[in-house]
Parts: sequence; C-alpha cells; structure tokens
Amino acid sequence: MKFSDQVKIIDKQTIQEDVFTITFDHVPEMGLVKPGQFFNVACDTTLLRRPISVCEVTPTSIVLAIKVIGKGTAFLSKLRVGDQMEIMGPLGNGFDLVEDSKVLVVGGGIGVAPLKALFEAIKPKNISTDVIIGFRDQPYLLEAFQSSADRCTVVSETDAGYLKGYVSEPLRAHLEETQYDMVYVCGPLPMLKAVAHICNEKKVNAQLLMEEKMACGVGACLVCTCKIKEGDFGFKHKRMCVEGPMFYASEVIFDA
Ligand SMILES: Cc1cc2nc3c(=O)[nH]c(=O)nc-3n(C[C@H](O)[C@H](O)[C@H](O)COP(=O)(O)OP(=O)(O)OC[C@H]3O[C@@H](n4cnc5c(N)ncnc54)[C@H](O)[C@@H]3O)c2cc1C
Ligand code: FES
Repeated sequence: MKFSDQVKIIDKQTIQEDVFTITFDHVPEMGLVKPGQFFNVACDTTLLRRPISVCEVTPTSIVLAIKVIGKGTAFLSKLRVGDQMEIMGPLGNGFDLVEDSKVLVVGGGIGVAPLKALFEAIKPKNISTDVIIGFRDQPYLLEAFQSSADRCTVVSETDAGYLKGYVSEPLRAHLEETQYDMVYVCGPLPMLKAVAHICNEKKVNAQLLMEEKMACGVGACLVCTCKIKEGDFGFKHKRMCVEGPMFYASEVIFDA
C-alpha cells in the first residue's frame, strides 16, 4: 500500500525565479525512498496530480525541486511553509544503484533534481563520479555536484559564463577518454534520446530516467507508456510510472 496522505511543508526555498524546493517529513509509512522514484503531488482540485522526483532523501526529510512549467507547478510554487500538500508515493522503480567503480552522471535542466538524490546516495560508496550538467540559461542545484564530483562540467545554451552548448558534446569527449561502468541520465526527451544514442554507440551501460505525461501514477490509466525492446526484433509497451521511469538506454525505442 502506497503512502497517500497530506504532508506539512516544513521548508521552502527559492532557487531561481522559476525553480524552488519544498521539504516535508520522511515518515516511516513512506518506507524506503530510492533516488529516481517520484511522488504524485496534488495541485488544485481541477488538475491531475503532477509527478515530481525526489531530489534529496534523508531518514527524516524529503526535498522536491520543482520548475514552474504550467498551472500545476505554478500552484505548487504558491504553497508556503506550514501548508498541507497531498502526495502519493514513492512511485516508480528508481535507479539501480550498482556497485560500480566509475560512473558518469548526465543531467539537463530540472532533470538534475533526481540526479542530486542519486549523487548523494552513491557518494558514501566511494564511487568515482564525473558529472556533466546542462541548462538552457543560468544553472541551478550545482553545489552538491561541484563540491564532491571528481570532475563537474557545466554547459549552458546561452552565454551564461559556462561552456556553451549541449551535454552531448562533453559526453562524447568523456566517453572517449574514460571507461565508465554506468552512466545515469535525466533531462528533457531530446537530451535523453541524444545521450542514449551516444551511449549505445559506445556500448556503455546507461540508465535513463524517462519523462512522460502521467495521470494516475500507479499503472491504471496507461497514459505513460513507452516502447521497450523485447527479444531480438519485438517490443512491448511498458508503463513509465510502474515499470519505469528508469529504463536502460539499450532497451528503449524512441519514436522518431
Ligand atoms: C517521473 C517524472 C518525474 C518528474 N520530476 C520532476 C521534478 O523533480 N521536478 C520538476 O519540476 N518536474 C518534474 N517532472 C515534470 C513535471 O511533472 C511537469 O513539469 C509537470 O507535470 C508540469 O505540470 P504543469 O501543470 O505545471 O504544466 P502543464 O503543461 O500545464 O501540464 C499539463 C499536463 O501535461 C503534463 N506535463 C506537462 N509537462 C510535462 C512533463 N515535462 N513531464 C510530464 N508531464 C508533463 C502534466 O502532468 C499535465 O497533465 C517530472 C515528470 C515525470 C514524468
Ligand atoms: S500514469 Fe497512469 S499508467 Fe502511468
């Protein structure tokens, strides 16, 4: 039985004009919360719940980092400390935390939020971690990566004082120079597609946190399916909210 109840907002921080974090208690009824899992968060009563990944998990608290996109996230941005928020979760499979010796984390935009939770989880395991993160403009949620990654490359599409361009360019260079055991990826669909293509070409294992429109979040409505390879030539539709949102790059079939 999934946790589904109201939680009280115990902290809220503005990260950028349209990016903020919300913190609530990690109560025992939620059980283990894995990086890459998400909560379905109720907005106002006229809207479907919105899926939001965990950005930080401690034994006592959970932080979500949210970018304002439309009505639902705008509603959440107006909540204050002390307000109640209705959530269900944790949902989805989350990342496989393998005991690898060398990993690369690749994120784009608000996709860095679940990667922060992943990064914090693998840090104590003494895993050597490189990071490439890309933003449309000014970066956010950088500190954790910059302070502890072996190498942290930040790119921006605008002249924000960082390497200009997309994550795919430094990704190719990193894969040429270093043998990674696993690449962990989250970001917008075109980025996921490009990164999956490069990793598959270079035969490097990659876990993608897929993003798709969702409604129920628990596998009932079939809104969130994607094509996953089956056998040598076939494919199967899998629900991102239950069997995902993490899928391996080698198994995802992206629509053209
Ligand atoms: C598994 C998962 C984890 C996510 N984690 C985060 C996170 O940690 N932080 C964060 O800011 N955002 C996250 N998102 C994206 C977030 O759910 C959407 O930005 C949000 O649903 C947009 O809702 P809206 O009402 O503000 O926008 P609107 O555009 O008004 O939404 C309209 C409809 O489209 C859906 N929708 C719109 N954009 C997206 C999108 N990019 N992905 C999925 N559904 C979308 C909404 O659910 C809604 O049903 C995640 C999405 C998924 C699938
Ligand atoms: S959101 Fe309903 S099946 Fe995935």
